[in-house]
Amino acid sequence: MIGKVKERRVFCHPVLGKQDPKKRKLKITFDGKVIEALEGETITAALLANGIRVYRKSIRYGEPRGLFCGIGQCASCVMTVNGIPNVRTCVTPVKEGMTVKTQSGRGRREKR
Ligand code: FES
Repeated sequence: MIGKVKERRVFCHPVLGKQDPKKRKLKITFDGKVIEALEGETITAALLANGIRVYRKSIRYGEPRGLFCGIGQCASCVMTVNGIPNVRTCVTPVKEGMTVKTQSGRGRREKR
């Protein structure tokens, strides 16, 4: 996946603005797997760049949900970030060492 990262990056975001592709590389953990992200990009941008398109499972039927509005107006991209559920990952910037997990249903706060 790393070989195709550049092709899938979000370089212009409607809320966060233009992204510099030469920014510092960070490591975040998604469902226990370490992936690469660029400083300043959103969590979903980093996940998309790594080929990850499912961010949560729907409350009623447990169906996979991905990016929908991309500007923080729906709840399609909510995930558990650093143990906190319902984080809108399409408008949340990545931070070094961040832990991101696929959320099922309404999500639960994790104990630290
Ligand atoms: S995709 Fe709609 S809030 Fe993130």
